[in-house]
Amino acid sequence: MRAWRFAGGFGRDNLVLEPDETPEPGPRDVLLEMRAAALNWRDLVVMRGEHRRSVRPPLIPLSDGVGIVIAKGEQVEGLGLGDRVCPAFYQHWQGGPPPPDLGRGRLGGPLDGVLATHRVFPADAVVRVPDHLSDPQAATLPCAGITAWSALSDPAPVRPGEIVLILGSGGVALFAVVLARAAGARVIVTTSSSDRAARLREMGADHVIDRRTVPDWAGADRVLELGGAGTLNDSVRAVRTGGTIILVGNVTGNRADLFLPPVLTRRLTLHSVSCGPVSALRALVRAIDRHRLDPVIGRVFPFRDAPAAFDALERGRIFGKVCVSCQTEGPT
Ligand SMILES: NC(=O)c1ccc[n+]([C@@H]2O[C@H](COP(=O)([O-])OP(=O)(O)OC[C@H]3O[C@@H](n4cnc5c(N)ncnc54)[C@H](OP(=O)(O)O)[C@@H]3O)[C@@H](O)[C@H]2O)c1
Repeated sequence: MRAWRFAGGFGRDNLVLEPDETPEPGPRDVLLEMRAAALNWRDLVVMRGEHRRSVRPPLIPLSDGVGIVIAKGEQVEGLGLGDRVCPAFYQHWQGGPPPPDLGRGRLGGPLDGVLATHRVFPADAVVRVPDHLSDPQAATLPCAGITAWSALSDPAPVRPGEIVLILGSGGVALFAVVLARAAGARVIVTTSSSDRAARLREMGADHVIDRRTVPDWAGADRVLELGGAGTLNDSVRAVRTGGTIILVGNVTGNRADLFLPPVLTRRLTLHSVSCGPVSALRALVRAIDRHRLDPVIGRVFPFRDAPAAFDALERGRIFGKVCVSCQTEGPT
């Protein structure tokens, strides 16, 4: 097998392609031939070495991927050779409340991720994916898809007609547009680009706001707060009295200076999501299958050019998910 690894340290120059022994599955494991991987904002944080201290090199990056089962342990039931599956972001969170050691089981740091030709995972931590999805589309489900799903399911499922405000047009945001539309919500999205605004309208967004020229919005039932420090007070202004702000991301910074009076007097709910368990991945897959939903793919890089995929995500100009094909030419 071959795997991309942050070897001697973090940083793009330390991302190297290395040969390795193809791993053997244990009695309850499956061996996957990886087909595709997808990048998230978090993978840039990991690459910069800005993640928590438990995330250390050497490390195979990326949490989101899809592969084909090519071998399995003798105790594995319910999965067959040839099944196409995604490993869950949290390998040790099956469902219910999160375990106390939640951070320990994440793929792409601290656990090795999916940017490899082959990987072994516990069979109970992988989920079969719908046939209509391409490999890159399926690869986007474990973190980006589940986060959007959780943000629209918790603390209460989104209702038809609910006004959902989604900040930005990144990977989680676009997934949320697709899922919120399928649930019958009225979708408002902010973006910084007129090209992206046009694409968002094509996707069915009911209203698109240019955040460079329209700083104030109001009346949302639920805000998917992806901006963080720089947008939280705007989100408080944008949500209706009694509404909910789902804390998802921090692309503008980590330390928010929150003005509390409107949060307190307008009875707002601030609820955070952290990706989701294996059970949420199963529920997302059922919804995608039932509604024939299509995650939006921006660009797929060949395996040998994986570092260029990090550059592309960092530049931030691609509409749709940045992915890597894990299929290689020649021997693996
Ligand atoms: N809690 C969780 O479980 C979880 C899971 C996944 C991701 N996240 C977090 O969610 C955030 C987004 O992740 P992602 O993977 O979707 O990122 P991404 O694909 O890189 O997208 C980032 C988007 O943020 C938007 N943006 C940039 N500056 C902004 C600003 N000042 N105000 C509002 N929007 C701005 C941009 O959209 P426009 O240019 O169109 O405005 C950009 O496309 C990150 O902070 C990530 O860590 C959290």
